[in-house]
Amino acid sequence: MSCHLLIPAAGSGKRMGADRNKLLLPLLGKPILQWTLEAAIASEAIAWIGVMAQPADYKDFQAIFNNIEPPKPIRLIQGGTTRQASVFNGLLTLPPDCSHVLIHDGARCLATPDLFDRCDVALQKMQGFIAAVPVKDTIKVVDGLTIIDTPNRDQLWAAQTPQGFQADLIKNAHLTAQELGWEVTDDAALLEKVGLAVQIVMGEETNLKVTTHQDLAIAEFILKQRQIQIDE
Ligand code: CTP
Ligand code: MG
Repeated sequence: MSCHLLIPAAGSGKRMGADRNKLLLPLLGKPILQWTLEAAIASEAIAWIGVMAQPADYKDFQAIFNNIEPPKPIRLIQGGTTRQASVFNGLLTLPPDCSHVLIHDGARCLATPDLFDRCDVALQKMQGFIAAVPVKDTIKVVDGLTIIDTPNRDQLWAAQTPQGFQADLIKNAHLTAQELGWEVTDDAALLEKVGLAVQIVMGEETNLKVTTHQDLAIAEFILKQRQIQIDE
């Protein structure tokens, strides 16, 4: 066990339209966040987990931790007003002995323990990586409603999490972002902006981010399929 894992879970789930953090919504009888945590806990690679949360959710998140009875430390860390700010808070609370960190969205509750294991192995050889899958659609760059470019699909990958980094590199990139006011939607983008190489680890087609009710229905279907495969 070598890796520290940060889980941004401090959003509100606006696009889900629920009256509370979407990560507390039930998925096959368990809160979404519990699925994410159980996969991370089942990965031998992960030694320590920090969950960034809004104080209003602390009680419910703590109840999930108590349910799981985790065999490794799980800490609650105060989140920020954006995902980037939440991750920054998480990075600042990593224990001093942490050399490598994985960051994985609480909302990607279908990531498997195998994906976490593969990410840990990759991280031992890389300064930064993201899990990603090749894009299946043809992607258009559009201005207004007019297409201005059709990039070559061979070069397009859809970014997922986990993303992983040498801890000092990603901390410094976040500090630079704060100083210069950069706003990005994933952590790899910060490493890219400071000119460091970030590589790809093959992600999983099923590693979707639960954003809307449709995603929740798809996630339920995928988990049921996995259950059927286990029972067979
Ligand atoms: N997140 C976070 N802190 C924030 C905002 C988001 O830690 N201030 C987390 C979310 O909890 C989620 C992950 O970042 O696990 C990815 O964000 P997203 O899927 O956009 O979740 P929400 O921001 O909660 O959803 P929405 O954008 O629909 O409001
Ligand atoms: Mg969001």
